[in-house]
Amino acid sequence: MASTNEYTVPGLSLTKGRGVADELQHRLHALNDLHLTLKHAHWNVTGPNFIAVHEMLDPQIELVRGYADEVAERIAALGASPIGTPGALVKDRTWEDYKVGRGNTLEHLAAIDSVYTGVVEDHRKAIAEIGEVDPITEDILIGQTAELEKFQWFVRAHLDTRDSEG
Ligand SMILES: [Fe+2]
Repeated sequence: MASTNEYTVPGLSLTKGRGVADELQHRLHALNDLHLTLKHAHWNVTGPNFIAVHEMLDPQIELVRGYADEVAERIAALGASPIGTPGALVKDRTWEDYKVGRGNTLEHLAAIDSVYTGVVEDHRKAIAEIGEVDPITEDILIGQTAELEKFQWFVRAHLDTRDSEG
């Protein structure tokens, strides 16, 4: 649903402010989906490295919840209404639901790796588009993307089976 706010941040036209808010709404859905999906993996992961993966996920979940809050409040600052309901998320999302239920660490890490690829690619697209219009929002997304990419490295490091001796 397109924003219909009557004001936005100073220095942006109403049309541009609404456009940024609409783009951010997609990022809000992605971040809400991400922290719920990571919690699902935290609950369902099994196997020999259970505790490493189980415990690695919680700080990331807290971080991503914070990012959702940051994006939602930016939408509000832009004068629009952030939508956080699960029904709207499911209706608007463009990706498939996470497929792994109870599963071992490698299954979950591979699935999480692919979730991160999707979220980071879409964050980068939003940075490119929003960067043309609103550097303040762009800055928020850049900071988030750096941390999301760092966590994806943690996940990929677990999956990397190449011999470290070469
Ligand atoms: Fe827990």
